[in-house]
Amino acid sequence: MAELTVNRPLEPIWKQLQEGGGINGRQVLIYKCLNSTNTTALNLAAAGAPTGMVVAADSQSAGRGRLGRKWQSPPGLGLYFSIITRPRLDLKDLTKITLAAGLALRTAILAASALETELKWPNDILWQGKKMAGILTECGAQSTKGRAAIIGIGLNINSEPDDFPMETGRRMVSMRTAANRFYDRGLMLTAVVEAMEREVKRLENGDFAAILRDWRRWDASRGKRLTWLRADGMPVCGISLGPDENGVLRIKDTAGLIHQVISGDLRLMDKEKRH
Ligand code: BTN
Repeated sequence: MAELTVNRPLEPIWKQLQEGGGINGRQVLIYKCLNSTNTTALNLAAAGAPTGMVVAADSQSAGRGRLGRKWQSPPGLGLYFSIITRPRLDLKDLTKITLAAGLALRTAILAASALETELKWPNDILWQGKKMAGILTECGAQSTKGRAAIIGIGLNINSEPDDFPMETGRRMVSMRTAANRFYDRGLMLTAVVEAMEREVKRLENGDFAAILRDWRRWDASRGKRLTWLRADGMPVCGISLGPDENGVLRIKDTAGLIHQVISGDLRLMDKEKRH
């Protein structure tokens, strides 16, 4: 692990949020360490926590990624947070929420840093083919306030290449490495939450078509060769046709068959894309 010097003392806006400042009237809970902000947010949502509440942690001891993977969450380096939403959508629309969240993340990163990122279906934010952020959307249990969708975000902010685990490090990148400067995690948290608010509103207004139109502009895999590892472990090689009008990814395999992908692992094959 690289030495942590520049992030101490805490970034000013992160500190302000820690001291109880919310974001646009939303309650923001900042913990020093949680197992997983998604788990805490799911529990709070089940107990009736208000829509829009944000749960963030300086570090996570059991941060979760998609497909049962771990999300390494050391203190001071990244942004680990979850937003409680109740977007009046069906369970089957979780992918739509993830795509909307990805677009919001891209917008916030661009506004803060001028970094142009790409989106890899369903939940990755890539910079020059490496992963800068990931999203884990999970569905809560039914509560008196309805069913919640928890949007969990992990954004690599101030890490150096050596801060990532050996196995995945080559494929990860932080804003700091990409832009060669440090970022205040509180500032990024505020920017992402505000951008997310706009996208969730579009979703609630039934305007997923507009989200999809914007999302497709930054699609990292459309027209590219990729391998999809199905849930049963079978690989399917083909070309990405991008998400359809419901957010479901379509892949045309080498025999010309079109597959509809709702989950599973995707690997871009083109040399220039390393993820
Ligand atoms: C992925 O790329 O597989 C998704 C990573 C999501 C990580 C974030 S960190 C905050 C929130 N809490 C978690 O346990 N996971 C998400």
